[in-house]
Amino acid sequence: MHAKPVVRQATASDAPAVQAIMNAIPWIAESAKTEEGFERTKSACGRGEVWIVEDNSVIASTMTLTKDSLAASCGYKIWLIRLIATIETARRKGHARRLIHKAKEIVDDGALTAHVQNDDSSALVSSEGFVLVEGQADAAGYPLYEWTRNAS
Ligand SMILES: CC(C)(COP(=O)(O)OP(=O)(O)OC[C@H]1O[C@@H](n2cnc3c(N)ncnc32)[C@H](O)[C@@H]1OP(=O)(O)O)[C@@H](O)C(=O)NCCC(=O)NCCS
Repeated sequence: MHAKPVVRQATASDAPAVQAIMNAIPWIAESAKTEEGFERTKSACGRGEVWIVEDNSVIASTMTLTKDSLAASCGYKIWLIRLIATIETARRKGHARRLIHKAKEIVDDGALTAHVQNDDSSALVSSEGFVLVEGQADAAGYPLYEWTRNAS
């Protein structure tokens, strides 16, 4: 029987599977795919910043979610989805959407943001009620999208 996909926080032992998902994405910087990059992924898992969808014992999708500590020191709750990705064979099954729902739960009444890097992720965040924040592209030119509970 096919059990329901589970969303859970990754642990350091999930880091190889998380890294494998990242390594399969062509546009991710080569520096992120090195041994050092893997150590960073493992540390992020250890810090509880990485969430995954496990479907029938396979880690199918991953999301790295961090809180902006500078904004937090000024009393603002702003969270950033640094990466969201699903293995190619498990796309369009709602896994990334499951992770975004988890992020919304964590962020609660704060702001959830993401720099959108392509049409697929643009379609994903738009379908989840994110809106474009004008003039807030990152250094690579990727536009910033934002979701807040009250606005949706
Ligand atoms: C973008 C990505 C994370 C989506 O993952 P996914 O698990 O397939 O997404 P979901 O199945 O949850 O899709 C949810 C919604 O997003 C939109 N969407 C996702 N992929 C899409 C695509 N290829 N074309 C159009 N819309 C898409 C749709 O609205 C979809 O809902 P629907 O299937 O009911 O129409 C996945 O394509 C991916 O890993 N791409 C490579 C990595 C990447 O570019 N990450 C984003 C930048 S950080």
